Amino acid sequence: MSDLSLRGISLTFPDGTEAIANADLDVSRGEFVSLVGPSGCGKSTLLRVASGLLDPTNGSVSVDASSVGYVFQDPTLLPWRTTRRNVELLAELRNVVPAIRRERAERILATVGLTEFADHFPRTLSGGMKMRASLARTLMLEPTVCLFDEPFGALDEMSRERLNGELIEIFLARNFAGVFVTHSIGEAVFMSSRVHVMTSRPGRLLEPIEVPFAYPRSPEIRFTPEFAAICGRVARALREATS
Ligand SMILES: Nc1ncnc2c1ncn2[C@@H]1O[C@H](COP(=O)(O)OP(=O)(O)OP(=O)(O)O)[C@@H](O)[C@H]1O
Ligand SMILES: [Mg+2]
Repeated sequence: MSDLSLRGISLTFPDGTEAIANADLDVSRGEFVSLVGPSGCGKSTLLRVASGLLDPTNGSVSVDASSVGYVFQDPTLLPWRTTRRNVELLAELRNVVPAIRRERAERILATVGLTEFADHFPRTLSGGMKMRASLARTLMLEPTVCLFDEPFGALDEMSRERLNGELIEIFLARNFAGVFVTHSIGEAVFMSSRVHVMTSRPGRLLEPIEVPFAYPRSPEIRFTPEFAAICGRVARALREATS
């Protein structure tokens, strides 16, 4: 049984908007998959269903909701808390005992490269640092399934590429099941073991495209013909999905 299993998911909002039609998705620990699709096709909605925040109209969700981590596009840090206290926030809300929380926060701040900025307030952090803090806050819960909704969409290309590599290192160390929504085909292919393309609304998932490169991946693979060929397949699937 997969750690996250979505079967025949359909979702129609109360106003009649049909967001998702018959979507199946299985992701296990050690798998990192990306979800790409046109704006408004239902990607964020599918993540909300996967996390248990939203009930589908039809279909079944199998996941341990207490072990799901969710990283949003916006870092949503509390401005009056330092980086460290922001990172500790979800663990505090889940009543993780203070000694364990602090020790875990130190370790995770180091993992995301924010040790030096632990006592800074969010307004003094760069966009990339804020995303690192947001990622750290989610990792504090030691999730089995981690959902990412375009976390690096607002960053410049260099910061984004660096964070792609760092997130994959964290994924390899922690071995969660990852679902990553992005509009960037290159980002999807670089990070994932499979890319799922979603059609225009109501979103359906097409047959996934496998990415055969072993982890860890060198940033240089982005410049190989094999990488370009897979990006081409995803781009063609996306064109089909929107036609
Ligand atoms: N609460 C809601 N009530 C009604 N319609 C909604 C609601 N939330 C989202 N929608 C609609 O459902 C569809 C899917 O929205 P969703 O946010 O999942 O798209 P998305 O694929 O994440 O888009 P983007 O790439 O722009 O983030 C859209 O047409 C959106 O307008
Ligand atoms: Mg979205």
